[in-house]
Amino acid sequence: AKSVILDMDPGIDDAAAIAVAVNRPDLDIKLITAVAGNVSVDKTTLNVLKLLEFFDKDIPVASGAKAPLKREFVDASYIHGESGMPGYDFPEVTTKPLDVDAVEAIHDVLTHSEEPITIIATGAYTNLALLLQQYPEDKAYIKEFILMGGSISGGNVSSVAEFNVFTDPDAAAIVFESGLPITMIGLDVTLKALLTTETINALPDLGEAGKMLYGIVTAYEDVHDGGKPMHDVNTILYAVDSSVIKTEALAVDVVTDGPAAGATVADTQHRWHEDGFTNVNVGVDIDAHAFNKWFLEQVDEMNK
Ligand code: BDR
Ligand code: CA
Repeated sequence: AKSVILDMDPGIDDAAAIAVAVNRPDLDIKLITAVAGNVSVDKTTLNVLKLLEFFDKDIPVASGAKAPLKREFVDASYIHGESGMPGYDFPEVTTKPLDVDAVEAIHDVLTHSEEPITIIATGAYTNLALLLQQYPEDKAYIKEFILMGGSISGGNVSSVAEFNVFTDPDAAAIVFESGLPITMIGLDVTLKALLTTETINALPDLGEAGKMLYGIVTAYEDVHDGGKPMHDVNTILYAVDSSVIKTEALAVDVVTDGPAAGATVADTQHRWHEDGFTNVNVGVDIDAHAFNKWFLEQVDEMNK
C-alpha cells in the first residue's frame, strides 16, 4: 500500500475524499491533518473525527493552522454550510485529535517512516508551507505532493483563482517553489468530472455510507450545469490510479498579491522560465463518465 498523509478542510468534497480514501486497502493513511478553509479549523478537525468514527477507522488526526500565513481567513460556508458537513446527522464525537499540532504531527510521521510519504492536500496549503519553513530537511521524506487546487483555465473564487490557492496564496507559492514533485489536480480536471444527478440519486441505495454521502452531497451548494464537482475526490483517484487523469509537466507560478492573487499561471510559452523548466505536473483532463462509475463503485464497496 502507498503511505500517505491527508491534509484537508472538510468540507463536503473533502468528506467524500476521506470516505473513499479510508476504505482503500491500497492506501496506508498514516495521519490526517486539518486546516482552516471551507470552515474554521476547529470545525474541519471535528469533521475529520466524525468521518473516522463513522467508518470506524483508527487513524491519528491533528489540527493545524487557524488562518492563512499572511491573509485574513475567509471561509466558504456559503458552499459547505455552517458546520462544513451538513445534510447528515453524525453522532456526537467521542475521539480527540492528537495533542500536537499538524506540523509537529506531520514531522513526526515523516521522520519515523521507513519510506518516503505522499502528501495529499485538499485544502489551503498552510500546514504544508509551515512544515517546509520549520523543517526544510523533511523534504527528504516527502515522495510527492498531490494537491487539489489551482487552475490554468480560470477560477472559481475570482475569474483567475481557485479557492484553495486563493485562501492562502503565500503558502501555495512556498509549496510550488519547494522543488518537490507536485501534481496539481485543479479545476481543469475537477470541473470536467461533475457528479451527475443520476449518480447522486444512486447513492442512497449503497448502504449507510451511500446515505451519508447522499445527505452531504445534496446539501452541497457547488452547483454547475450537469452536476456537482467532487473536487477533492479526484486527488484520491489520482493517488490510486494516475493513468485516469491526463497531466502535463509545466512551469507554474502562484500570484500572491493584487487582483490576480491566487492564480496559478502556467508559463506555456516559456517567457518567464527557461525552456524545459517544469515544477508542476498539471492535471488537464479526465473521463467524466469513468469518474462517476468509479465513485459509485467506491461507495458500493465501503464497509458500512
Ligand atoms: C476546493 O475548494 C474547497 O471549497 C473544496 O473543498 C475544494 O478543495 C475547490 O476549489
Ligand atoms: Ca477542500
